[in-house]
Amino acid sequence: MNNNIDNFWSKLKKPIFGLSPMDGVTDQPYRFIQKKYGKPAVIYTEFTNVEGVCHGATTLLRDFIYDETQRPIVAQIYGKTPKYFRQTAVILCQLGFNGIDINMGCPAKSVDNSGSGAALIKTPELAQDIIKATKLGIQDYLNGQRAKDCSNITEEISQAVEKKAKLLPKKYQEKSKGLSGTIPVSVKTRIGYSSAIVEEWIPILLKMEPAVIAIHGRTLKQQYSGNANWNEIKKAANLCHKTKTLILGNGDIQDFQDAQRKIKEYGVDGVLIGRATFGNPFIFVENKDGGNKISCGATNNRENIFEVALEHSRVFEKTYSNKPRYNFLPMRKHLGWYVRNISNAKIVRADLFKTNSAEEVETVLKNYKLL
Ligand SMILES: Cc1cc2nc3c(=O)[nH]c(=O)nc-3n(C[C@H](O)[C@H](O)[C@H](O)COP(=O)(O)O)c2cc1C
Repeated sequence: MNNNIDNFWSKLKKPIFGLSPMDGVTDQPYRFIQKKYGKPAVIYTEFTNVEGVCHGATTLLRDFIYDETQRPIVAQIYGKTPKYFRQTAVILCQLGFNGIDINMGCPAKSVDNSGSGAALIKTPELAQDIIKATKLGIQDYLNGQRAKDCSNITEEISQAVEKKAKLLPKKYQEKSKGLSGTIPVSVKTRIGYSSAIVEEWIPILLKMEPAVIAIHGRTLKQQYSGNANWNEIKKAANLCHKTKTLILGNGDIQDFQDAQRKIKEYGVDGVLIGRATFGNPFIFVENKDGGNKISCGATNNRENIFEVALEHSRVFEKTYSNKPRYNFLPMRKHLGWYVRNISNAKIVRADLFKTNSAEEVETVLKNYKLL
C-alpha cells in the first residue's frame, strides 16, 4: 500500500521553497497571488476538519477551492477519526489535488483539546492509524470509489464534489492517468508536545512512509513564542535522510537568503515559509541584491506591490462574492500587510480597514498616490 513512490514531490527541483498552510490566510485568492508573483514550488490549502466534512459541513468545501495555476497543490486536513480521513481522502482525490497533508502540528486550544493537530504527538498509534487510513482512502479512489460511495459523505457534499470534478482538466478526471497512479500523503508537525522529542516522534511517522515531513521547530506548548529550534529540525532531517521521506524545515524564515542559509546549515530538502509571506509574495523570488523584504513600491522592476494588493482584492471579490454571507472583512488584514512598510502606514491602513470592495481599495490607494 505504498502510494508514495513516483509522486510529484520527488520530481520537484530541490531545494523546495513552499508556502506554509495558514488558516484564515492561505485561501484561494492568497494562493493565487502568491503563486503568480512568487511561484512557490508547492502550496497547501488551509487545514480543514475531516469530522466537519464527514458530518455534512458543506461550507468547508470552500477551503478546497483552487485553480490550475496553483499546482502542485496539497490539501491539508486535520482531525482524529481515521475513517473520516479515509473518506475525505477520496473527496480530495476526486477534486484533483496533487497531494494530501495531515496536520499534526496545530497548537490551537480547541484543536488540541479535541485530540487533533499537535495533540496527535501524544497518541502515536492514532497518528499512525490516521496516515494509514488516508493512504487507504487514496487507494479506494484509485480502485474507483467516489464521494457518493462513502458512507458518511452527505449527498449535498458528494454532488458538489462531482460538479467540481467535472470541471477539472481531463487528465485529473481519469482516475490514475494524470495522477500517475499516485497521490502522496505528507505530514506537517512540530518538534514535540511539551518538550522536543524529535528522536522519538519522527521515527513513528517514518514507519508509515509519508512522502514528506514538514516540521515547525517549536513544541505545541511554545505555540509561536521564542524561536524555532532549527537544531531539532536538523535531527529530524538526519532521521529522514536514512529513508525516502523528504524533510522540509519551517519556522521564522525571514527572507529568501535566510531560507537558503537554513537549508544548507540544517540539511533539509527544503522549507515552508509562512508569516514572512504576508503582503510579500516576492519572498519566493531570489533577490541577488540581498533580502526580500519588499513590501512597498515598485522594486527591482517587479510589479508595484499596491497593484498586487488591488489585484488580490479583485480576486477575493470574484472568488467569494457569489457565496452566502459574503463580506470583504477577511481581505482587510492582507491590505494592512501590503502597506505596512510605508511611512504613513498607520493612516493608510485605517482607511483600508474601512473598505468593503476592490473598488473602494482602489480609491484609497489612489488617494494616497500609491497607484
Ligand atoms: C495565522 C496562522 C494560521 C496557521 N494555520 C495553519 C494551518 O492551517 N495548518 C498548518 O499546518 N499550520 C498552520 N500554521 C502554522 C504555519 O504553517 C507555520 O508552521 C508557522 O507559522 C511557522 O512558520 P513561519 O515562522 O514561517 O510563519 C498557521 C500559522 C499562522 C500564523
